[in-house]
Amino acid sequence: MDFKFKDQFSLGVASAATQIEGGECGHNWNDWYHRGRIKDGSNPARANDHYNIWRQDADLMASMKIEHYRLGIEWARICPDEGKVDEDAITHYRDEILYLMEKGISVLLTIHHFTNPMWFETKGGFTKKENIKYFLDFVDLVVNSFGDIVAEYITINEPNVYATMSYFYGDWPPGEKSISTAIKVMSNMTICHIKAYEIIQHTRHDMGFNDTMVSFANHIRIFDPKNPKNPWHRICARLVDRFFQGAVTEAMTTGKFKWPLKRDKDIQEGEYLDFIAINYYTRSTVSGFGDGTKEDAPKNDLGWEIYPEGLVQSAKELYRLLERPIYITENGTCDNEDTFRSKYIYDHLKAIVESDLPITRYYHWCFCDNFEWIEGESSRFGLVHIDYETQKRTIKRSGDFYTRMIEEKGVTQDMYNEYVRDLEYHY
Ligand code: BGC
Repeated sequence: MDFKFKDQFSLGVASAATQIEGGECGHNWNDWYHRGRIKDGSNPARANDHYNIWRQDADLMASMKIEHYRLGIEWARICPDEGKVDEDAITHYRDEILYLMEKGISVLLTIHHFTNPMWFETKGGFTKKENIKYFLDFVDLVVNSFGDIVAEYITINEPNVYATMSYFYGDWPPGEKSISTAIKVMSNMTICHIKAYEIIQHTRHDMGFNDTMVSFANHIRIFDPKNPKNPWHRICARLVDRFFQGAVTEAMTTGKFKWPLKRDKDIQEGEYLDFIAINYYTRSTVSGFGDGTKEDAPKNDLGWEIYPEGLVQSAKELYRLLERPIYITENGTCDNEDTFRSKYIYDHLKAIVESDLPITRYYHWCFCDNFEWIEGESSRFGLVHIDYETQKRTIKRSGDFYTRMIEEKGVTQDMYNEYVRDLEYHY
């Protein structure tokens, strides 16, 4: 039951600005809360108050021996109005990054993680091609502001989840329900990623660096037919896969736009990632155009199937498309009482260790419990427990297990017995 990590493999944690920072800074999630759209009524202006107590969080991370941090910045803070730049916000993030570096923690910077400033949202956000320039101006500002201290970037987090939740299901802001708009958003985000890739690479090259690593964080799930013998289920599984992730993955990776995305004349075919960035959580079973979950399978507190094999299966697909080092930029689970998280982590890391893929990093989602979008504060994914009333942080048992794995560069038999053996998933 014990295993060792491969030599180049290391562990980190991830988070996103809106989910932890708190504050009202004029973005579409502040607005969504004011429109009463968060299920448990919790306010992202509270979250983890991280914008104020970031030093404490960095110290805690260092005390847990964490080596890599995927950190997000808030566009609405840095650019509170069209054409305005808040230099204090830039200084704030520079201070935070430099502090993390002093503690020996390397930073992977996420530029866009679901949240838009309201001035951009009201112009139509990513639904309009003419708005792409605002995002690219922001990317340019980011790389010019942080390029001397940050080598690794995620341009956009999960364009497929953003497009479908915001424009197909309509559960996220701005709450539209149009398949054609969702497709348009994916196409425009593809252009954004590819142009951002070029801006970041060129700018850092001109600064004299040749170690720049850029990718987008790709939310990949397994879509299996509910009944593999049913041809309709098989067709639906392939269609949903193509619509939700296949087409956008290929376009963002290679510049090849295939159905349902439309080719863009400004984009040349090429290779637009320096590493494969995978956010992996679950498998869906498909019997129509919705999302289903396998019966009798282990599930987390949100009812998502726990399917560790899927991580390596997805990584193989992406590696086939473009051979690059692989970072798991998110993996984790909603386990409110921390009763099975250590087992979830163990099972996914074991699958990684047993694969022959060049997976070099694993960022656990997430460091601390945080504002889980429309689930609000009710869904806990962290290695560290947050008491939202007092903002007290308490390392969970899974957090201790994580630190031990970093120290041991794997899992010993004693650790397995202590942290994993007796845990069980829910069904
Ligand atoms: C997102 C995170 C989110 C997590 C858990 C990912 O799709 O990038 O922001 O909290 O899933 O739902």
